[in-house]
Amino acid sequence: MLTQQENELLCLVEGDAPMGQIMRRHWLPACLSEEVAEPDGDPIRVRLLGEDLVAFRDTDGRVGVLDEMCPHRRASLVLGRNEECGLRCLYHGWKMDVEGNVLEMASEPAESKMVEKVKHKAYPTHEEAGFVWVYMGPADEQPEFTAPVFQPTPETKVSISKVIVDCNWAQILEGAIDSAHSSSLHSTDMVPARIGGAEANDKLWLRPSTDKAPRLQLQKTRFGFRYAALRRPITDAKTHDYVRTMLFIAPYTVQIPPNNLYDIAILHVPIDDTHTAFHFITWGDEATTPDTESWRKFLGTQIGIDLDARFRKFRSRENNYWQDRRIMQLGTATPGSGASPTRTSPCGRPWAPSPTAPTTGWAPATWPSSSSAARWFRPPRPCSRVVRRSAPASRAFHITSSNLSRALCPRRPTGGSWVPLLRKPNSTKPSRTSSPSDRSASDRLNKTINE
Ligand code: FES
Ligand SMILES: [Fe+2]
Repeated sequence: MLTQQENELLCLVEGDAPMGQIMRRHWLPACLSEEVAEPDGDPIRVRLLGEDLVAFRDTDGRVGVLDEMCPHRRASLVLGRNEECGLRCLYHGWKMDVEGNVLEMASEPAESKMVEKVKHKAYPTHEEAGFVWVYMGPADEQPEFTAPVFQPTPETKVSISKVIVDCNWAQILEGAIDSAHSSSLHSTDMVPARIGGAEANDKLWLRPSTDKAPRLQLQKTRFGFRYAALRRPITDAKTHDYVRTMLFIAPYTVQIPPNNLYDIAILHVPIDDTHTAFHFITWGDEATTPDTESWRKFLGTQIGIDLDARFRKFRSRENNYWQDRRIMQLGTATPGSGASPTRTSPCGRPWAPSPTAPTTGWAPATWPSSSSAARWFRPPRPCSRVVRRSAPASRAFHITSSNLSRALCPRRPTGGSWVPLLRKPNSTKPSRTSSPSDRSASDRLNKTINE
C-alpha cells in the first residue's frame, strides 16, 4: 500500500513537486504541430505542469512557447497579434519573439533602454513527429533532442489522437500499463478470435484469447520496466501461451504490443495535477498504418464529433460519458457507444480527477498486488525513483518495439519465466524498425530468445 505521501510524490507535478521537476528534465510534447500550423496563425493556450503558456508559429515558421502572461502588466498573449516575427500584446503593444526577446515596447519613450533589459520567459522548442516539444528544465541539464521511437525515419507514417482528460496523469498511465483491464473493459472491441496473434482491421482489434486474468512477469530496466502478460490462448492452450509484452519508458511513455498492421505508443503529458494530455499514437508503413482521420475515427476521438477544437471530450461525468445501457443489455461490455479499443479510455474515464484526494476512496494503493501497476507504484521502487534513475525519455525512446510480442508462443517449462527472455531491448541508437507486418511477433521473440 502506498502512503499518502508516496501517492503525492508520484502524482503531483505543479510548482516544486519532485515529479514535476523530473518531468521538466525531459522533452515534453507541448502541442501538436497541426495546432499551430500556419505562420502568423492564431496563438494557442498551452498548459504544462501547472504552468500557463502560449504557443505560436511566427512569420518564418518558427514555433515559440512562452509564458502566457505579458511581461509588462500580465495581459494574456493568447489574445495578442501574431505578426512580423513576434507576438504583440494587445494592451500596450509590447512584442516578443519566439525566444522571448522583447522586440518593441510601444508604450515606452523612444529613448527608453528598457527594451534591452527585459526578457520574457521562453522555453526551447523542437518540432518533430507531429509534435512541438518543449524543454522546461534547467538550461545546463537540457538533453539533446533525439527522434522519438515512433518516428524512426522521416518517411515513417505517424498518426496521433489527442484527448484532454480530466484526471491526474498517473491515473491514466496506470490504465496503459494494466493489461488485465483490456480483457474486460475492451472485450467488445478487442474480440477473441482463433488467430495466431493480435490483429487489427478498420473496426476492431482481435486477440487469440478469452483469458481475463493474465499472469504478469515484470522486469525492471534502466528506462523503466517491461512485462509479459501471459494468457491462455483459444487454440493450442495445452502447449502455448498468448504473450503480450509492453514497455514503460519513464517518465510518461508506454508502448503496448503492436498488431499485424501497426505499432502503438501512448504519451501521458501532465497538464497539471488534475488534467492530462493523452496521446494515442500509431506508426509504421504507409500501406498499413491508418491516416490521422481514420485513426481518430477508429478511436472515437474526432474533432467536432467526439471532441471540441481544443481536444476536450464531449463525453463527461455529467452525461455519463454517453453510456448506452441499451447496448450494454445486448452484451456490450463498454459503457460508450460504438466500438474501438480506446473509446472508453480517453473518452470516458469514470475516475476522480486526482488519486491523491483523500476523499476519493480510489488510489493505486488499493490495486491487487498481481497488477503490474501496483508493482510499479509500490515501494521499494516507486515510480519517482524509477524515473529519477532512468535515462532521459528522448534517449530511452530509441528502445525499439522489436522485442514486443503479441503472439502465441511455446509455453515455458513449469515455473519458467519469460523475463530472462525479454533482455536486450537497450539499443539507444535510432534505428529503423520494420513493420509488424514484415515479420511475426513470435519470430521476433524467438530471435530475442536466441540472442
Ligand atoms: S500588458 Fe502587455 S504590453 Fe502592457
Ligand atoms: Fe483501456
